[in-house]
Amino acid sequence: MQSSEKVTGSGRAVERLGLRSDALAGKVAVVTGAGDGIGLETAYALAWLGAAVVIAESNAETGKLAEELIRSAGGRAYFIHTDVSNAGSVADMLAGTYRSLGPVDILVNNAVLCPPVAVLEMDESLWDRVMAVNLKGTFLTSKAVLPDMIDRRSGIIVNMVSTDAMPYLSAYIASKQGIAAFSQSLAGEVGEHGVHVIAFAPGFVDTPGLRGAARGLAPRMGLSEEQFMKLSLHPAYPDSAMPADHAGAAAAYLITALSEEYHGELVNGYQVLEQAGFLQAQPVEDALAALPADEQSSGRKDGDLLESLNSAAGLSARFIEMLVETEEELKRLPVFVRPLARSGIKSKSGMSLQDWRRAAESLKQQLEQARGAGQIHALPAAYRQMEAYLDRLADYYRQVPAETLRFTKDADVIAQVQQISQGRVALIQSLKSAVRALAQA
Ligand SMILES: NC(=O)c1ccc[n+]([C@@H]2O[C@H](COP(=O)([O-])OP(=O)(O)OC[C@H]3O[C@@H](n4cnc5c(N)ncnc54)[C@H](O)[C@@H]3O)[C@@H](O)[C@H]2O)c1
Repeated sequence: MQSSEKVTGSGRAVERLGLRSDALAGKVAVVTGAGDGIGLETAYALAWLGAAVVIAESNAETGKLAEELIRSAGGRAYFIHTDVSNAGSVADMLAGTYRSLGPVDILVNNAVLCPPVAVLEMDESLWDRVMAVNLKGTFLTSKAVLPDMIDRRSGIIVNMVSTDAMPYLSAYIASKQGIAAFSQSLAGEVGEHGVHVIAFAPGFVDTPGLRGAARGLAPRMGLSEEQFMKLSLHPAYPDSAMPADHAGAAAAYLITALSEEYHGELVNGYQVLEQAGFLQAQPVEDALAALPADEQSSGRKDGDLLESLNSAAGLSARFIEMLVETEEELKRLPVFVRPLARSGIKSKSGMSLQDWRRAAESLKQQLEQARGAGQIHALPAAYRQMEAYLDRLADYYRQVPAETLRFTKDADVIAQVQQISQGRVALIQSLKSAVRALAQA
């Protein structure tokens, strides 16, 4: 494709990522459900980067419009009417793609059904339909493109996933959790053949699908639909969901620049956009500077094992208390925010709160045994791995005051949260230093 034919002048986010507009030239991409929302924007972004994009969409009207939109901007787009839940339809779509464009290099499993319905009100056929479109659809398309990808030792599959749990979205969430596990399992099977598989959680994104879900969810949360759409999951979007073109740009950046790094993992759109330099990471205040002297870790003398052992044992006990307090705080959050907060801890720190509890209990036990035996003995080197995770956990707590600002403007509450967070960051830093001293001994 000549540069003059490129998608230009739309002002969409992909143009501001600093990627070359021929980064995907010669590639063939299939995006399911690309008639609208994130799928449309992902297709647009991939076309802007030079790929020939198949819009595999069940809604003929939006599918055709998406094709026209991308073509009118100079991109290569081909609408193929597709129902991803139907194996025959998927086979026809891929045969058509192969005939006109060749084998598929990039598959984005994006098509979705997301009905906001209570479990008690959900009939079996609706449950089956959600699973068929979301989960089975992902399996069918992946299975169909894999033989060529494996033969050519090259390919990228991005599967859209979502948050951990959400009331009234049980079928949708169950299907998305299934897709996350499917993606990780598949990654283990095909990675050695040069195929990258990634589970991608775009974020809280303004799309027709989200607006539809808002109609069912907002009243149950005591919010208007407008208030629901203003919920913010990242400070870069302080009073709105992420625009869909940002999510499409994130998917395209992941595919173009990060597919190897995130193979077999689950990554979210905010992370990708931060990594692309498109969003600013949360500004980190210098929490440690404000700490009382005894919380500072820098004064500890290396080599003083006994002191480190005693200190680490005390710190690990306080660390466990901190995790218990955090758990209690999460329980006090509104039921809709809780799963988001939980997944925030996991994605930012690398471990869930439960995993942290298990790791902390095992550390404490280890330290107490060493003290009980009256021995100054060093911590197994394996604990050194904990250091990096402790850094990430400290970062998480540093961001809590800014996160809180998005839910309340009450200055007293914010000041209190800030103080507690600083104390927690300090505790984690001190524990990290003590663990390091023991692991290095
Ligand atoms: N919007 C968000 O906040 C959000 C959050 C987390 C994850 N996601 C994920 O991102 C993806 C896109 O979400 P969205 O909000 O843009 O959705 P959307 O509902 O706005 O668009 C979904 C598209 O899929 C199409 N589709 C539905 N059934 C199909 C089928 N059987 N075959 C082919 N196409 C079909 C629809 O016609 C529509 O064009 C989904 O996988 C969703 O789980 C979105």
